[in-house]
Amino acid sequence: MGAGKSTVGTAVAEAAARPFVDLDGLIEQRHGPIPALFEQGEPEFRRIEEEMLAEVLAGPDSVIALGGGAVISPLNRERLRARAFTVYLDVDVETAWQRVRGSNRPLAQREDDFRRLYAARQSAYAGAADAAARGVEDVLLASLAIRFGGFSSPAGPVEVVADRNVLVLHKPPVDGPIRRVPPGEGAKTLAVVEGLWRELSLGRDGIIVAFGGGSTTDVAGFVAATYMRGIPWIAAPTTLTGQVDAAIGGKTGIDTADGKNLAGAFHFPEQVLIDPAVLVTLPERERRAGMAEVVKTGLLAGRPVWELPEEEMIRACAAYKTGVVLSDPYETEGRRAVLNLGHTFAHALEAGSGYRVPHGEAVALGLLAALRLSGQATDVVEEVLRPEPAEADLDVAWAALKRDKKGEGVFVLLEAPGKPVVTTVSDADARAALAALVRQ
Ligand SMILES: NC(=O)c1ccc[n+]([C@@H]2O[C@H](COP(=O)([O-])OP(=O)(O)OC[C@H]3O[C@@H](n4cnc5c(N)ncnc54)[C@H](O)[C@@H]3O)[C@@H](O)[C@H]2O)c1
Ligand SMILES: [Zn+2]
Repeated sequence: MGAGKSTVGTAVAEAAARPFVDLDGLIEQRHGPIPALFEQGEPEFRRIEEEMLAEVLAGPDSVIALGGGAVISPLNRERLRARAFTVYLDVDVETAWQRVRGSNRPLAQREDDFRRLYAARQSAYAGAADAAARGVEDVLLASLAIRFGGFSSPAGPVEVVADRNVLVLHKPPVDGPIRRVPPGEGAKTLAVVEGLWRELSLGRDGIIVAFGGGSTTDVAGFVAATYMRGIPWIAAPTTLTGQVDAAIGGKTGIDTADGKNLAGAFHFPEQVLIDPAVLVTLPERERRAGMAEVVKTGLLAGRPVWELPEEEMIRACAAYKTGVVLSDPYETEGRRAVLNLGHTFAHALEAGSGYRVPHGEAVALGLLAALRLSGQATDVVEEVLRPEPAEADLDVAWAALKRDKKGEGVFVLLEAPGKPVVTTVSDADARAALAALVRQ
């Protein structure tokens, strides 16, 4: 009671594009005011609560705010365990009491009773919850097991797949035999995958820990998806790009002779362990690449996340991506497409430069084009990312853009910061926007 379940729940539901259900609200709709139900005795109220929770759990995937006493029922706890991911919204008793005092809630009429109830329920909450959280970001991050410190060590045997260069600089967060892979994109090859398939000596109870940037998590995740028909894995991303983007969302894969990320699988990591401290050794160029994704995220979310202190910035970006991923985990509904803001132009510039323009710089330019086509101010991109026109062949870039997998003339634009739209752009406008990014 008074933890903010309705407020937080509504925001989480909105971020994840799922229906929001307030269990107490639903009970009142069907059975009348809760104080009146309590007058027939608490057991009768609890019986109705059990019935309604079962009904809601049988319905579409939703964000549900439970009443404060719902998890006291063993039946409810069992049903939650089977069907839900349950988050305990942690609030101190003082704050909770200040929020509920003076309300008509039957169990919040006297402060000393309220405090006793709060204390008595703590162990039930701890036992019922899969995670504890203090706000919207926490809930989102918890639901994909994205952790900033304090991870649970895996149950089975572990092997660590690590970027060779990163190992020289940092210690993996989990101990185990180490399988080294080449630094960066060079790891995303079938040869590396085959090597790992052969080298790994894990059984089906084993778990792979990926330690490196997005290239390492992509290849190690793909190996985890395929080794012995799939074993679990943990991502420990060591680049800014990895921590705000690549390690989140279950996409794994490698490059083929025909292009980047052409073979892969959806395989969500069991945990994502984020330690911003490892970023101190990140080369400037890699940091800038990560910042391009941060600015992209801020534009999508409609929040100047790039102004936040580093750890908060990473949390905000990771939580935003988590919401989008939860709205369409296996990309069957096209909702994840918004994450491609600026990327259609970016991929075109990468191809048009023979992949000499790095992804981050291409994204910075791509964001400029998307903002210009959206009729939005570009100053944030200019000030934070300072993109320079690309050395690229316009015709080659244009041909690549036309081949883009999202289909003819379809782009992600912004109606306003925080309001992405997937829309079409005429060839003439798209080509002019692309030309403006290329050094003439
Ligand atoms: N799966 C996804 O959803 C997704 C999303 C975005 C990007 N990606 C992929 O991620 C890859 C790019 O990953 P990236 O940008 O994270 O970099 P990366 O893994 O390619 O690494 C870049 C360089 O940084 C070095 N490095 C990594 N961590 C370091 C550290 N802490 N200190 C010093 N050096 C460090 C590496 O050795 C390498 O040389 C691309 O292949 C891209 O396709 C995947
Ligand atoms: Zn990107």
